[in-house]
Amino acid sequence: MTKREQLDELNKYWQENCECGLKVTATQAVFGDGNANSDIVFIGEAPGKNEDLQGKPFIGAGGKFLAEMLESIKIKREDVYITNIVKYRPPNNRDPLPEEKEECNEWLMNELRIISPKLIVFLGRHPMGRFFPTEKISDIHGKLLIKKIPELGEKQAFLALYHPAAALYNGGLRETLIKDFKKIPKALEKIL
Ligand code: URA
Repeated sequence: MTKREQLDELNKYWQENCECGLKVTATQAVFGDGNANSDIVFIGEAPGKNEDLQGKPFIGAGGKFLAEMLESIKIKREDVYITNIVKYRPPNNRDPLPEEKEECNEWLMNELRIISPKLIVFLGRHPMGRFFPTEKISDIHGKLLIKKIPELGEKQAFLALYHPAAALYNGGLRETLIKDFKKIPKALEKIL
Protein backbone atom coordinates (compact mmCIF):
# COMPACT_ATOMS: atom_id res chain seq x y z
CA MET A 1 0.00 0.00 0.00
CA THR A 2 1.24 3.52 -0.73
CA LYS A 3 1.53 6.05 2.09
CA ARG A 4 -1.49 7.87 0.62
CA GLU A 5 -3.56 4.68 0.74
CA GLN A 6 -2.45 4.03 4.32
CA LEU A 7 -3.46 7.56 5.31
CA ASP A 8 -6.85 7.17 3.63
CA GLU A 9 -7.44 3.97 5.58
CA LEU A 10 -6.26 5.59 8.80
CA ASN A 11 -8.58 8.58 8.37
CA LYS A 12 -11.51 6.30 7.65
CA TYR A 13 -10.79 4.32 10.83
CA TRP A 14 -10.33 7.31 13.12
CA GLN A 15 -13.24 9.25 11.69
CA GLU A 16 -15.42 6.44 13.03
CA ASN A 17 -13.50 5.62 16.17
CA CYS A 18 -12.09 8.90 17.48
CA GLU A 19 -13.85 9.74 20.73
CA CYS A 20 -13.03 13.45 20.67
CA GLY A 21 -15.87 15.42 22.29
CA LEU A 22 -15.55 18.09 19.59
CA LYS A 23 -17.21 15.73 17.11
CA VAL A 24 -20.58 16.85 18.48
CA THR A 25 -20.19 20.50 17.49
CA ALA A 26 -17.87 20.23 14.48
CA THR A 27 -19.19 19.96 10.91
CA GLN A 28 -16.68 17.26 9.98
CA ALA A 29 -13.21 15.89 10.69
CA VAL A 30 -10.42 17.83 9.02
CA PHE A 31 -7.81 15.34 7.80
CA GLY A 32 -4.18 16.10 7.13
CA ASP A 33 -3.61 17.31 3.60
CA GLY A 34 -0.81 17.32 1.06
CA ASN A 35 2.03 15.11 -0.08
CA ALA A 36 2.21 11.88 1.92
CA ASN A 37 5.81 11.41 0.72
CA SER A 38 6.97 14.84 1.92
CA ASP A 39 10.12 15.23 4.01
CA ILE A 40 8.33 17.92 6.03
CA VAL A 41 5.15 17.76 8.08
CA PHE A 42 3.60 20.95 9.46
CA ILE A 43 1.41 20.49 12.55
CA GLY A 44 -1.09 23.16 13.53
CA GLU A 45 -3.48 23.40 16.44
CA ALA A 46 -7.06 22.70 15.34
CA PRO A 47 -9.33 23.57 12.42
CA GLY A 48 -10.97 27.00 12.37
CA LYS A 49 -14.28 28.01 10.82
CA ASN A 50 -13.28 27.78 7.14
CA GLU A 51 -11.44 24.53 7.69
CA ASP A 52 -14.44 23.04 9.50
CA LEU A 53 -16.75 23.98 6.64
CA GLN A 54 -14.49 22.88 3.81
CA GLY A 55 -12.76 19.92 5.46
CA LYS A 56 -9.21 21.05 4.67
CA PRO A 57 -6.54 22.38 7.08
CA PHE A 58 -5.14 25.91 6.86
CA ILE A 59 -7.33 27.44 4.18
CA GLY A 60 -8.29 30.65 6.03
CA ALA A 61 -6.18 33.79 6.48
CA GLY A 62 -3.51 31.87 8.45
CA GLY A 63 -3.35 29.29 5.67
CA LYS A 64 -2.89 31.97 3.02
CA PHE A 65 -0.02 33.42 5.02
CA LEU A 66 1.46 29.93 5.43
CA ALA A 67 1.29 29.36 1.64
CA GLU A 68 3.04 32.71 1.05
CA MET A 69 5.83 31.81 3.45
CA LEU A 70 6.22 28.41 1.76
CA GLU A 71 6.50 30.15 -1.61
CA SER A 72 9.18 32.44 -0.17
CA ILE A 73 11.36 29.35 0.38
CA LYS A 74 10.40 27.89 -3.01
CA ILE A 75 8.15 25.16 -1.64
CA LYS A 76 4.62 24.64 -2.91
CA ARG A 77 1.90 23.96 -0.38
CA GLU A 78 0.92 20.76 -2.19
CA ASP A 79 4.48 19.43 -1.86
CA VAL A 80 4.36 19.32 1.94
CA TYR A 81 1.98 17.64 4.37
CA ILE A 82 -0.09 19.78 6.74
CA THR A 83 -2.15 18.51 9.66
CA ASN A 84 -3.40 19.47 13.13
CA ILE A 85 -3.06 17.91 16.58
CA VAL A 86 -6.86 18.10 16.94
CA LYS A 87 -8.96 17.09 13.93
CA TYR A 88 -12.22 18.82 14.89
CA ARG A 89 -12.96 22.52 15.29
CA PRO A 90 -13.31 23.72 18.90
CA PRO A 91 -16.43 25.92 19.30
CA ASN A 92 -15.67 29.61 18.67
CA ASN A 93 -12.06 28.67 17.96
CA ARG A 94 -11.25 28.28 21.66
CA ASP A 95 -8.03 26.49 22.58
CA PRO A 96 -8.35 22.70 22.43
CA LEU A 97 -8.62 21.14 25.89
CA PRO A 98 -5.98 18.65 27.10
CA GLU A 99 -8.47 15.77 26.82
CA GLU A 100 -9.35 16.76 23.24
CA LYS A 101 -5.68 16.71 22.33
CA GLU A 102 -5.31 13.35 24.03
CA GLU A 103 -8.32 11.87 22.20
CA CYS A 104 -6.85 12.86 18.81
CA ASN A 105 -3.28 11.91 19.75
CA GLU A 106 -3.18 8.36 18.41
CA TRP A 107 -4.56 9.58 15.07
CA LEU A 108 -1.71 12.09 14.79
CA MET A 109 0.94 9.58 15.90
CA ASN A 110 -0.28 7.09 13.29
CA GLU A 111 -0.16 9.79 10.64
CA LEU A 112 3.41 10.67 11.56
CA ARG A 113 4.51 7.03 11.60
CA ILE A 114 3.10 6.50 8.09
CA ILE A 115 4.69 9.64 6.63
CA SER A 116 7.90 9.32 8.64
CA PRO A 117 9.06 12.87 7.79
CA LYS A 118 12.61 14.11 8.15
CA LEU A 119 11.42 17.34 9.78
CA ILE A 120 8.33 18.15 11.84
CA VAL A 121 7.46 21.84 12.00
CA PHE A 122 5.15 23.01 14.80
CA LEU A 123 2.83 25.88 13.98
CA GLY A 124 2.28 27.34 17.43
CA ARG A 125 2.59 26.33 21.04
CA HIS A 126 -0.11 23.61 21.07
CA PRO A 127 1.63 21.15 18.73
CA MET A 128 4.97 22.09 20.31
CA GLY A 129 3.57 21.26 23.75
CA ARG A 130 2.71 17.73 22.65
CA PHE A 131 6.39 16.94 22.04
CA PHE A 132 8.16 19.50 24.26
CA PRO A 133 5.76 19.94 27.19
CA THR A 134 8.13 21.88 29.44
CA GLU A 135 9.43 24.34 26.83
CA LYS A 136 8.15 27.79 25.94
CA ILE A 137 7.75 28.70 22.27
CA SER A 138 9.34 32.09 22.98
CA ASP A 139 12.51 30.21 24.01
CA ILE A 140 12.76 27.53 21.34
CA HIS A 141 11.19 29.02 18.18
CA GLY A 142 13.43 28.88 15.12
CA LYS A 143 15.85 26.35 16.65
CA LEU A 144 16.45 22.93 15.17
CA LEU A 145 15.62 20.40 17.90
CA ILE A 146 16.40 16.70 17.91
CA LYS A 147 14.54 14.42 20.29
CA LYS A 148 13.69 10.76 20.57
CA ILE A 149 9.93 10.35 20.80
CA PRO A 150 9.16 6.75 21.86
CA GLU A 151 6.01 6.52 19.67
CA LEU A 152 7.97 7.65 16.61
CA GLY A 153 10.94 5.34 17.05
CA GLU A 154 14.18 6.93 15.92
CA LYS A 155 15.41 10.41 16.85
CA GLN A 156 13.27 13.03 15.19
CA ALA A 157 14.07 16.60 14.05
CA PHE A 158 11.68 19.43 14.95
CA LEU A 159 11.40 23.15 14.37
CA ALA A 160 8.94 25.25 16.39
CA LEU A 161 7.41 28.32 14.75
CA TYR A 162 4.84 30.82 15.93
CA HIS A 163 1.34 30.16 14.66
CA PRO A 164 0.68 31.99 11.35
CA ALA A 165 -2.77 33.21 12.44
CA ALA A 166 -1.33 34.63 15.68
CA ALA A 167 1.57 36.28 13.84
CA LEU A 168 -0.54 37.66 11.01
CA TYR A 169 -1.71 40.76 12.84
CA ASN A 170 1.21 41.19 15.23
CA GLY A 171 4.11 43.01 13.56
CA GLY A 172 6.85 41.69 15.85
CA LEU A 173 5.73 38.07 15.74
CA ARG A 174 5.18 38.31 12.00
CA GLU A 175 8.77 39.38 11.39
CA THR A 176 10.06 36.65 13.69
CA LEU A 177 7.94 34.00 11.97
CA ILE A 178 9.07 35.06 8.48
CA LYS A 179 12.69 34.94 9.67
CA ASP A 180 12.25 31.55 11.39
CA PHE A 181 10.51 30.14 8.31
CA LYS A 182 13.61 30.82 6.23
CA LYS A 183 15.50 28.41 8.51
CA ILE A 184 13.53 25.45 7.13
CA PRO A 185 15.73 24.82 4.04
CA LYS A 186 18.91 24.97 6.14
CA ALA A 187 17.41 22.65 8.74
CA LEU A 188 16.49 20.17 6.00
CA GLU A 189 19.98 20.40 4.50
CA LYS A 190 21.47 19.55 7.89
CA ILE A 191 19.23 16.54 8.38
CA LEU A 192 19.14 15.04 4.88
N1 URA B 1 -5.24 27.03 12.48
C1 URA B 1 -4.78 25.81 12.75
O1 URA B 1 -4.06 25.58 13.69
N2 URA B 1 -5.14 24.82 11.93
C2 URA B 1 -5.91 25.01 10.88
O2 URA B 1 -6.18 24.06 10.17
C3 URA B 1 -6.35 26.32 10.62
C4 URA B 1 -6.01 27.30 11.43
